[in-house]
Amino acid sequence: MNFPQTRLRRLRKTEAIRSLVRETHLRPEALIYPLFICPGEGVRKPIRSMPGVFNLSVDEALKEAELCASLGLGGVLLFGLPAEKDETGSGAWLEQGIVQTALRAIRQQRSLGSLVTIADVCLCEYTTHGHCGVVARDGNDHYTIENDSTVALLAKASVSLAEAGADVIAPSDMMDGRVAAIREALDERGRIDTPIMSYASKFASAFYGPFREAADSAPQFGDRRSYQMDGANLREAMREIDQDIVEGADMLLMKPAMPYLDVIRAARERYDLPMGAYQVSGEYSMMHAAFERGWLEPERTMMESLLSIRRAGADFIVTYFGLEAARVLA
Ligand code: PBG
Repeated sequence: MNFPQTRLRRLRKTEAIRSLVRETHLRPEALIYPLFICPGEGVRKPIRSMPGVFNLSVDEALKEAELCASLGLGGVLLFGLPAEKDETGSGAWLEQGIVQTALRAIRQQRSLGSLVTIADVCLCEYTTHGHCGVVARDGNDHYTIENDSTVALLAKASVSLAEAGADVIAPSDMMDGRVAAIREALDERGRIDTPIMSYASKFASAFYGPFREAADSAPQFGDRRSYQMDGANLREAMREIDQDIVEGADMLLMKPAMPYLDVIRAARERYDLPMGAYQVSGEYSMMHAAFERGWLEPERTMMESLLSIRRAGADFIVTYFGLEAARVLA
Protein backbone atom coordinates (compact mmCIF):
# COMPACT_ATOMS: atom_id res chain seq x y z
CA MET A 1 0.00 0.00 0.00
CA ASN A 2 1.11 3.45 -0.82
CA PHE A 3 0.23 7.00 0.06
CA PRO A 4 -2.53 8.15 0.32
CA GLN A 5 -3.97 4.75 1.42
CA THR A 6 -1.12 4.39 3.88
CA ARG A 7 -0.69 7.32 6.19
CA LEU A 8 1.66 6.42 9.00
CA ARG A 9 0.75 9.59 10.86
CA ARG A 10 -2.69 8.10 11.68
CA LEU A 11 -1.11 6.17 14.51
CA ARG A 12 0.69 9.22 15.88
CA LYS A 13 -2.37 11.38 16.33
CA THR A 14 -2.82 11.23 20.09
CA GLU A 15 -0.77 10.09 23.05
CA ALA A 16 -3.37 7.36 23.61
CA ILE A 17 -2.81 5.86 20.17
CA ARG A 18 0.95 6.32 20.35
CA SER A 19 0.95 4.56 23.66
CA LEU A 20 -1.11 1.67 22.25
CA VAL A 21 1.33 0.99 19.42
CA ARG A 22 4.56 1.67 21.34
CA GLU A 23 7.05 -1.12 20.67
CA THR A 24 9.62 -0.64 23.42
CA HIS A 25 9.08 0.04 27.10
CA LEU A 26 11.15 1.01 30.08
CA ARG A 27 10.44 -0.43 33.51
CA PRO A 28 12.11 0.43 36.82
CA GLU A 29 12.55 -3.32 37.54
CA ALA A 30 14.92 -3.51 34.58
CA LEU A 31 17.16 -0.71 35.83
CA ILE A 32 20.24 -1.28 37.97
CA TYR A 33 21.80 1.53 39.99
CA PRO A 34 25.55 1.60 40.73
CA LEU A 35 26.70 2.36 44.28
CA PHE A 36 30.25 3.44 45.18
CA ILE A 37 30.93 2.38 48.75
CA CYS A 38 33.62 4.17 50.77
CA PRO A 39 34.87 3.91 54.36
CA GLY A 40 33.53 6.03 57.20
CA GLU A 41 30.14 7.01 58.50
CA GLY A 42 27.72 9.61 57.27
CA VAL A 43 29.86 10.12 54.16
CA ARG A 44 28.10 11.36 51.07
CA LYS A 45 30.83 12.78 48.89
CA PRO A 46 29.74 14.19 45.52
CA ILE A 47 31.62 12.99 42.46
CA ARG A 48 32.60 16.17 40.66
CA SER A 49 32.17 14.89 37.12
CA MET A 50 28.93 12.99 37.82
CA PRO A 51 26.25 15.32 39.21
CA GLY A 52 23.90 13.46 41.55
CA VAL A 53 26.27 10.53 42.12
CA PHE A 54 28.19 10.09 45.38
CA ASN A 55 30.74 8.02 47.23
CA LEU A 56 28.68 6.61 50.08
CA SER A 57 29.68 5.10 53.38
CA VAL A 58 27.83 1.89 54.23
CA ASP A 59 25.13 3.66 56.30
CA GLU A 60 24.47 6.16 53.50
CA ALA A 61 24.52 3.39 50.89
CA LEU A 62 21.77 1.67 52.86
CA LYS A 63 19.64 4.80 52.56
CA GLU A 64 20.31 4.95 48.83
CA ALA A 65 19.40 1.28 48.50
CA GLU A 66 16.14 1.98 50.38
CA LEU A 67 15.37 4.64 47.83
CA CYS A 68 16.12 2.20 44.98
CA ALA A 69 13.81 -0.40 46.53
CA SER A 70 11.00 2.09 47.10
CA LEU A 71 11.22 3.25 43.49
CA GLY A 72 11.02 -0.34 42.30
CA LEU A 73 14.48 -0.63 40.77
CA GLY A 74 15.70 -4.09 39.88
CA GLY A 75 19.03 -4.03 41.61
CA VAL A 76 22.19 -2.31 42.72
CA LEU A 77 25.71 -2.81 41.39
CA LEU A 78 28.35 -2.39 44.07
CA PHE A 79 31.83 -0.92 43.70
CA GLY A 80 34.25 -0.39 46.55
CA LEU A 81 36.76 2.30 47.47
CA PRO A 82 38.89 0.50 50.05
CA ALA A 83 40.65 2.30 52.91
CA GLU A 84 43.94 0.85 51.69
CA LYS A 85 45.24 -0.37 48.37
CA ASP A 86 48.18 -2.64 47.62
CA GLU A 87 50.05 -4.14 44.67
CA THR A 88 47.77 -7.18 44.28
CA GLY A 89 44.45 -5.65 45.34
CA SER A 90 43.99 -7.86 48.38
CA GLY A 91 41.19 -5.60 49.65
CA ALA A 92 39.00 -7.24 47.01
CA TRP A 93 38.74 -10.54 48.93
CA LEU A 94 38.88 -9.42 52.57
CA GLU A 95 36.08 -10.77 54.71
CA GLN A 96 35.75 -7.28 56.20
CA GLY A 97 36.25 -5.65 52.80
CA ILE A 98 34.28 -2.56 51.95
CA VAL A 99 31.82 -4.17 49.52
CA GLN A 100 31.53 -7.30 51.67
CA THR A 101 30.52 -5.09 54.60
CA ALA A 102 27.94 -3.25 52.50
CA LEU A 103 26.53 -6.54 51.18
CA ARG A 104 26.05 -7.90 54.69
CA ALA A 105 24.35 -4.65 55.76
CA ILE A 106 21.97 -4.78 52.80
CA ARG A 107 21.26 -8.45 53.43
CA GLN A 108 20.25 -7.69 57.03
CA GLN A 109 17.67 -5.12 56.01
CA ARG A 110 14.53 -7.01 55.11
CA SER A 111 12.94 -4.07 53.32
CA LEU A 112 15.67 -4.41 50.70
CA GLY A 113 14.69 -7.94 49.78
CA SER A 114 13.32 -6.90 46.39
CA LEU A 115 16.72 -5.58 45.24
CA VAL A 116 19.18 -7.86 43.47
CA THR A 117 22.67 -7.15 44.78
CA ILE A 118 25.30 -7.43 42.08
CA ALA A 119 28.98 -7.32 43.02
CA ASP A 120 31.35 -5.94 40.40
CA VAL A 121 34.49 -8.06 40.45
CA CYS A 122 37.70 -6.33 39.46
CA LEU A 123 41.02 -5.41 41.02
CA CYS A 124 41.45 -1.86 39.71
CA GLU A 125 39.79 -0.17 42.68
CA TYR A 126 42.00 -2.17 45.05
CA THR A 127 45.43 -1.96 43.44
CA THR A 128 47.89 0.90 43.98
CA HIS A 129 48.68 0.91 40.24
CA GLY A 130 45.02 0.99 39.20
CA HIS A 131 45.23 -1.87 36.71
CA CYS A 132 42.58 -4.60 36.67
CA GLY A 133 45.15 -7.36 37.26
CA VAL A 134 48.56 -8.35 38.53
CA VAL A 135 51.35 -6.25 37.04
CA ALA A 136 54.59 -7.96 36.06
CA ARG A 137 57.43 -5.48 35.45
CA ASP A 138 60.59 -6.36 33.58
CA GLY A 139 62.61 -3.41 34.76
CA ASN A 140 62.85 -1.43 31.53
CA ASP A 141 59.68 0.53 31.94
CA HIS A 142 57.97 -2.42 30.37
CA TYR A 143 55.10 -4.20 32.01
CA THR A 144 52.38 -6.73 31.33
CA ILE A 145 49.12 -7.48 33.08
CA GLU A 146 49.35 -11.18 33.93
CA ASN A 147 46.28 -13.09 32.97
CA ASP A 148 46.34 -16.38 34.85
CA SER A 149 47.55 -15.15 38.22
CA THR A 150 44.90 -12.42 38.06
CA VAL A 151 42.17 -14.95 37.33
CA ALA A 152 43.00 -16.82 40.53
CA LEU A 153 42.61 -13.60 42.54
CA LEU A 154 39.31 -12.74 40.85
CA ALA A 155 37.98 -16.18 41.76
CA LYS A 156 38.97 -15.55 45.37
CA ALA A 157 37.24 -12.16 45.37
CA SER A 158 34.12 -13.69 43.82
CA VAL A 159 33.83 -16.35 46.52
CA SER A 160 34.28 -13.74 49.23
CA LEU A 161 31.58 -11.50 47.71
CA ALA A 162 29.15 -14.39 47.27
CA GLU A 163 29.71 -15.43 50.87
CA ALA A 164 29.03 -11.86 52.01
CA GLY A 165 25.65 -12.10 50.29
CA ALA A 166 25.99 -10.95 46.68
CA ASP A 167 23.12 -12.31 44.61
CA VAL A 168 25.08 -12.01 41.38
CA ILE A 169 28.82 -11.93 40.61
CA ALA A 170 29.80 -9.58 37.79
CA PRO A 171 33.43 -9.80 36.60
CA SER A 172 34.47 -6.65 34.70
CA ASP A 173 38.20 -7.23 34.36
CA MET A 174 38.35 -8.80 30.84
CA MET A 175 40.95 -11.45 31.67
CA ASP A 176 40.67 -14.67 29.63
CA GLY A 177 39.19 -17.64 31.42
CA ARG A 178 37.85 -15.77 34.43
CA VAL A 179 34.26 -16.95 34.08
CA ALA A 180 35.26 -20.63 34.19
CA ALA A 181 37.59 -20.05 37.13
CA ILE A 182 34.95 -18.10 39.05
CA ARG A 183 32.30 -20.76 38.34
CA GLU A 184 34.60 -23.48 39.57
CA ALA A 185 35.56 -21.56 42.72
CA LEU A 186 31.93 -20.75 43.56
CA ASP A 187 30.85 -24.36 43.03
CA GLU A 188 33.68 -25.66 45.18
CA ARG A 189 32.36 -23.55 48.03
CA GLY A 190 28.82 -24.77 47.50
CA ARG A 191 27.66 -21.59 45.77
CA ILE A 192 26.20 -23.51 42.87
CA ASP A 193 23.20 -21.16 42.73
CA THR A 194 25.10 -17.88 42.46
CA PRO A 195 24.79 -16.61 38.88
CA ILE A 196 27.61 -14.94 36.97
CA MET A 197 26.85 -11.86 34.93
CA SER A 198 29.84 -11.45 32.69
CA TYR A 199 30.91 -8.11 31.28
CA ALA A 200 31.45 -10.22 28.19
CA SER A 201 31.85 -7.42 25.74
CA LYS A 202 33.74 -4.57 27.33
CA PHE A 203 35.58 -2.10 25.17
CA ALA A 204 38.60 0.01 26.14
CA SER A 205 36.66 3.26 26.21
CA ALA A 206 37.26 6.93 26.86
CA PHE A 207 33.72 6.98 28.23
CA TYR A 208 34.92 5.39 31.50
CA GLY A 209 36.75 8.62 32.40
CA PRO A 210 34.43 9.93 35.12
CA PHE A 211 34.10 6.47 36.72
CA ARG A 212 37.80 6.46 37.45
CA GLU A 213 37.26 9.54 39.59
CA ALA A 214 34.21 7.93 41.21
CA ALA A 215 36.01 4.67 41.99
CA ASP A 216 39.51 6.13 42.32
CA SER A 217 40.73 3.51 39.87
CA ALA A 218 42.65 5.32 37.13
CA PRO A 219 45.68 3.33 35.94
CA GLN A 220 48.83 5.04 37.21
CA PHE A 221 50.70 4.15 34.01
CA GLY A 222 49.74 2.82 30.59
CA ASP A 223 46.16 2.01 29.68
CA ARG A 224 43.75 -0.92 29.59
CA ARG A 225 44.07 -1.76 25.91
CA SER A 226 45.91 -5.03 26.44
CA TYR A 227 42.86 -6.50 28.17
CA GLN A 228 39.74 -4.50 27.22
CA MET A 229 38.57 -4.74 23.62
CA ASP A 230 39.41 -2.51 20.68
CA GLY A 231 36.38 -0.35 19.90
CA ALA A 232 36.66 -1.20 16.22
CA ASN A 233 35.87 -4.89 16.67
CA LEU A 234 32.36 -6.28 16.53
CA ARG A 235 33.28 -9.84 15.51
CA GLU A 236 35.74 -10.06 18.36
CA ALA A 237 32.95 -9.04 20.74
CA MET A 238 30.95 -12.05 19.53
CA ARG A 239 33.94 -14.31 20.18
CA GLU A 240 34.27 -12.91 23.71
CA ILE A 241 30.61 -13.68 24.33
CA ASP A 242 30.88 -17.20 22.83
CA GLN A 243 33.78 -17.86 25.15
CA ASP A 244 32.01 -16.60 28.26
CA ILE A 245 28.93 -18.68 27.48
CA VAL A 246 31.07 -21.80 27.08
CA GLU A 247 32.70 -20.99 30.42
CA GLY A 248 29.33 -20.77 32.14
CA ALA A 249 28.13 -17.16 32.12
CA ASP A 250 24.44 -16.89 33.10
CA MET A 251 23.92 -13.32 31.91
CA LEU A 252 25.78 -10.93 29.67
CA LEU A 253 26.60 -7.28 30.16
CA MET A 254 27.55 -5.06 27.25
CA LYS A 255 29.58 -1.93 27.80
CA PRO A 256 29.57 0.98 27.02
CA ALA A 257 26.01 1.29 25.69
CA MET A 258 25.23 4.23 23.42
CA PRO A 259 28.46 4.24 21.38
CA TYR A 260 28.06 0.45 20.88
CA LEU A 261 24.36 -0.04 20.16
CA ASP A 262 25.21 -2.04 17.04
CA VAL A 263 27.16 -4.51 19.15
CA ILE A 264 24.20 -4.87 21.52
CA ARG A 265 21.89 -5.49 18.57
CA ALA A 266 24.22 -8.09 17.06
CA ALA A 267 24.50 -9.89 20.39
CA ARG A 268 20.73 -9.82 20.88
CA GLU A 269 20.19 -11.50 17.53
CA ARG A 270 22.78 -14.12 18.19
CA TYR A 271 22.38 -15.11 21.84
CA ASP A 272 19.44 -16.11 24.01
CA LEU A 273 21.02 -15.32 27.38
CA PRO A 274 19.57 -12.47 29.41
CA MET A 275 21.59 -9.45 28.39
CA GLY A 276 22.06 -6.05 29.95
CA ALA A 277 23.93 -2.95 28.89
CA TYR A 278 25.90 -0.49 30.99
CA GLN A 279 25.25 3.15 30.24
CA VAL A 280 28.64 4.19 31.56
CA SER A 281 29.87 7.23 33.44
CA GLY A 282 30.94 9.24 30.39
CA GLU A 283 27.57 8.77 28.72
CA TYR A 284 25.93 10.13 31.88
CA SER A 285 28.40 12.98 32.35
CA MET A 286 28.24 14.25 28.80
CA MET A 287 24.47 14.45 28.94
CA HIS A 288 24.68 16.25 32.28
CA ALA A 289 27.18 18.72 30.86
CA ALA A 290 24.65 19.53 28.14
CA PHE A 291 21.81 19.76 30.68
CA GLU A 292 23.80 22.29 32.71
CA ARG A 293 24.25 24.46 29.65
CA GLY A 294 20.59 24.21 28.82
CA TRP A 295 21.48 22.56 25.52
CA LEU A 296 19.46 19.39 26.06
CA GLU A 297 16.19 18.84 27.87
CA PRO A 298 17.10 16.57 30.81
CA GLU A 299 14.09 14.30 31.20
CA ARG A 300 13.44 13.66 27.53
CA THR A 301 17.11 13.13 26.76
CA MET A 302 17.56 10.72 29.65
CA MET A 303 14.53 8.63 28.69
CA GLU A 304 15.40 8.62 25.00
CA SER A 305 18.93 7.46 25.78
CA LEU A 306 17.61 4.58 27.88
CA LEU A 307 14.99 3.67 25.30
CA SER A 308 17.65 3.48 22.59
CA ILE A 309 19.53 0.91 24.65
CA ARG A 310 16.39 -1.17 25.23
CA ARG A 311 15.46 -0.95 21.55
CA ALA A 312 18.93 -2.16 20.57
CA GLY A 313 18.10 -5.29 22.54
CA ALA A 314 19.21 -4.94 26.16
CA ASP A 315 16.85 -6.57 28.67
CA PHE A 316 18.13 -4.46 31.54
CA ILE A 317 20.27 -1.36 31.91
CA VAL A 318 22.88 -0.36 34.45
CA THR A 319 22.54 3.41 34.65
CA TYR A 320 23.40 6.37 36.86
CA PHE A 321 20.00 7.75 35.81
CA GLY A 322 18.38 4.81 37.63
CA LEU A 323 16.73 6.79 40.43
CA GLU A 324 15.61 9.66 38.23
CA ALA A 325 14.30 7.43 35.47
CA ALA A 326 12.35 5.36 37.98
CA ARG A 327 10.80 8.58 39.31
CA VAL A 328 9.68 9.49 35.81
CA LEU A 329 8.25 6.01 35.25
CA ALA A 330 6.39 5.98 38.59
C1 PBG B 1 36.24 -1.82 36.58
C2 PBG B 1 35.12 -1.11 35.94
C3 PBG B 1 35.14 0.08 35.18
C4 PBG B 1 33.81 0.40 34.91
C5 PBG B 1 33.03 -0.61 35.45
N1 PBG B 1 33.86 -1.53 36.07
C6 PBG B 1 36.26 0.97 34.82
C7 PBG B 1 37.25 0.57 33.82
O1 PBG B 1 37.22 -0.52 33.27
O2 PBG B 1 38.14 1.37 33.59
C8 PBG B 1 33.33 1.62 34.17
C9 PBG B 1 31.97 2.07 34.51
C10 PBG B 1 31.63 3.46 34.11
O3 PBG B 1 32.38 4.15 33.39
O4 PBG B 1 30.56 3.90 34.53
N2 PBG B 1 37.15 -2.41 35.75
